[in-house]
Amino acid sequence: MNVNSLVRKPIIQMDRIQWGETKYDESFLILKWGENPFPTSPKVIKAISNSLSNLNSYPSLNIKELLRDKLGIYAGVKAENVLLTNGSDKAFRLISETFVDVDDEAIVFNPTFPVFSSSIKMMGGKIVPIPLNSNYEISSFEDIQTSISKRTKIIYICNPNNPTGNYTTSIEIIEKILELGLIVIVDEAYFEFGGISTVKLLEEYNNLIILRSFSKTFGLAGLRVAYLLASSEIINMLSRIEDSIETFNITTPSLVGALSILKNMDEALYSIKRLNEMRKQYSNKLQKLNLKVINSSTTFVLFSLENQKISASDFMKEMAFNKIILKDLSIYDGLSKFDVYSAIPAPKDLERVLDAINNSIIKLKQNVKTENI
Ligand SMILES: Cc1ncc(COP(=O)(O)O)c(C=O)c1O
Repeated sequence: MNVNSLVRKPIIQMDRIQWGETKYDESFLILKWGENPFPTSPKVIKAISNSLSNLNSYPSLNIKELLRDKLGIYAGVKAENVLLTNGSDKAFRLISETFVDVDDEAIVFNPTFPVFSSSIKMMGGKIVPIPLNSNYEISSFEDIQTSISKRTKIIYICNPNNPTGNYTTSIEIIEKILELGLIVIVDEAYFEFGGISTVKLLEEYNNLIILRSFSKTFGLAGLRVAYLLASSEIINMLSRIEDSIETFNITTPSLVGALSILKNMDEALYSIKRLNEMRKQYSNKLQKLNLKVINSSTTFVLFSLENQKISASDFMKEMAFNKIILKDLSIYDGLSKFDVYSAIPAPKDLERVLDAINNSIIKLKQNVKTENI
């Protein structure tokens, strides 16, 4: 039977994002996902371990409500303005499923995090890309106005941005964009590293959705906890789907782990501060290797090999030979064949990574010279 003939058209038309090779054994250092390099705090691990004796029960809705309350306090909004999701990836889906009909449009600023675009395409929506300028910033408000059509529903702003790591725009510009009267998503997955948030704008704008995650700043990527902040109207609409289909969307260990992180905020704040220092140190050392590094407020940096005239794809192969996996960014719209993404290595791995980068550059430049002889 031809099963594909039963599949919805937007899914047939969708490209599958290729995240690359995944079969690496433990000896490899994987720096392509931007994970927080610090191990989860022993206090949080203990709380999670204690919760494991209850796995025969569904996750407690009471604990879920408690986490929602605590997140409201943490973010400075009411609990009714918070919705927990199974990772930010799930938040994208929920938003697209709620707002996007076939042929509706969403505006993104490229290069940016591609998962949002996939969620739009999944619904049969169309992506209208606006390029960021050479500093990876939103350059003109007029470009946004002219890109809006009758079908535009959503504008997605990733701030700080993945894969560039920088803030793409200011709160003032986001406020102007909100005035356009469309749904505006501000992805603040890395909020705590730079501390800049649009959260105050929620008081005035019921069309704003802020995405936050426990994966990066709180180092809980393995448990898939995220939340969004929005007006109660939006939260109620999204909850129609979430409560009706996935009441128990956050697992017991995830709920308990997230609560424990909020209870031990001093530890989380300390690790955020350390990561910021490590990123500065890593960026400085990369610059000393004559690499151009973009100023980042996240768990990763984008650096360019253009000065070295080495392509990211050759560099990836050489680094993999050294058992270090980075990300070649040439596949992103708006980035070049020289651009590389690297998570911030843990202090114990820093010298290993820098040595591998240095040696790979020397070797690849040597090859170029030999080829030219
Ligand atoms: C900007 C941005 N948003 C969302 C996510 C996904 O986060 P989560 O782990 O909560 O799904 C990422 C992950 O890399 C990201 O960089």
